[in-house]
Amino acid sequence: MDKVRKKLQESVSFISSYLPLVNSHMVEFFSNDLWEAHVPNKIKTEFKEKHWNKENIIDIFLENLEASHSELGRFIQSCSANSLEKNEIIIGIDELQKAFRMNRCSNMDCVNKDKFMSEKKFHEVKKMSELVADLVRTTDATHVIDIGDGKGYLSSYLSLVYKLQVLGLDSSTNLTQGAAERANKLQKRWNSALNKFDIEDEPFNNETPSKTKSIEDTNKRNECYKQVTKFITYDTDLKNLLYEKFPGSIEYQYGLIGLHTCGNLSPICLRQFLYNNNAPFLVNIGCCYHLLEEGNDHESTFPMSNYLKQSNFVLGRNARMLSLQAPARIFVSKEIPQTLMFRAVFESFMEHKMGKCIGKGREVGRMRSKCSSFVEYSRKGIKKLGYNIHVSDEEIATFFEKYAPSLQFLEFYFMIRVVLAPVIENIILLDRLLFLQENGIKHSFLVKLFDSYVSPRCYGIVAIRDKQ
Ligand SMILES: C[S@@+](CC[C@H](N)C(=O)[O-])C[C@H]1O[C@@H](n2cnc3c(N)ncnc32)[C@H](O)[C@@H]1O
Repeated sequence: MDKVRKKLQESVSFISSYLPLVNSHMVEFFSNDLWEAHVPNKIKTEFKEKHWNKENIIDIFLENLEASHSELGRFIQSCSANSLEKNEIIIGIDELQKAFRMNRCSNMDCVNKDKFMSEKKFHEVKKMSELVADLVRTTDATHVIDIGDGKGYLSSYLSLVYKLQVLGLDSSTNLTQGAAERANKLQKRWNSALNKFDIEDEPFNNETPSKTKSIEDTNKRNECYKQVTKFITYDTDLKNLLYEKFPGSIEYQYGLIGLHTCGNLSPICLRQFLYNNNAPFLVNIGCCYHLLEEGNDHESTFPMSNYLKQSNFVLGRNARMLSLQAPARIFVSKEIPQTLMFRAVFESFMEHKMGKCIGKGREVGRMRSKCSSFVEYSRKGIKKLGYNIHVSDEEIATFFEKYAPSLQFLEFYFMIRVVLAPVIENIILLDRLLFLQENGIKHSFLVKLFDSYVSPRCYGIVAIRDKQ
């Protein structure tokens, strides 16, 4: 626990000097002169002096990733040292497996051959279900509860491939109904895939191989996976929901899992794990951190640990939004959204015409894809905002020209934010881990479950309760 707290403390102390930067909004880059306000002075000076002659700003960052002779390089490395990727607390699935002497379940790839889901979803579902199946074996869990199971891909996979009894819970009726229909379709396709690729339906937990059975079952419903539409809160009686769907007289042990449980749902899953002594393990991967409720009262979902609560640390919504960036993808694609420039200049133009915007801000939504020029973008923006402004195309174009040379500053600023993003996610996840450890869950870990390029929200909290 001390190690986690120390790591969290370091990252919090590092991000504290950049809080105004990570909480700024790209829209206001020109109107609030964010470059002057928030870029560290030494980096600002270096950027001006070095005349980095790169067409693509991302190349400057790539060249400085390891550089210790430049301000930018040292900044990137400090971010990296406080990010999840370099966090020595993170462990891989293999390490977890060794630590708990898990028997890896065999990978059954035939599902992929028959394209049940997108590549991204399949990557997540396959990796996560391997781990969940390992944990079920290791802890002798009788059931799995998939909280926020959405379209039910993970639950279906666990029930079809690993023969686990799964209860899927989601607040959306449409999704739960869709999941049930999809599960039955998948059952049929699964059986025909087994036949098509001549694969034995491998046993799990000492069942006998059942290829013949699966052929007979081709038209049967998937009885291992059941769904309930329910909005889950801290108070929801999960055990009761499980017994309603899977009636029985023995004491069930149910693993709690959640794949990309958005916003408050991750903190809810963690608390549910604490309350449910019959839950031998938890696997939780969160997303949509901007939806968390930040504060120090009972209802708030960030921070969770006493340590961070007592320090009165405030991250901020824009910072949490920023943590959802996908740096690995940005560095590979080398693409910075063009819309950033149009939107920031448009804001400045509107301020010039209509005065400073007070309160929530001007919302124009996504438009760039359909706009070939700033003039077109501005015309659409003005219409969306309902402003009655008489302005010529020439005036709009001239306004944009004035800012065009500053594009490199805007893109550089965007990239500085991108390298800070993993520090924020690190803080959010370490806080969750510390919360579990403060509450006596000794065996709790931050595990890298997915490839960050394929699935940017790739870190999960895994916890295993001591046997009682
Ligand atoms: C990002 S989706 C993930 C779905 C699925 N696990 C997957 O990975 O494909 C999050 C799901 O959580 C559900 N959800 C969010 N808050 C919830 C709550 N409090 N109770 C139940 N479901 C919730 C949403 O309806 C949505 O289907």
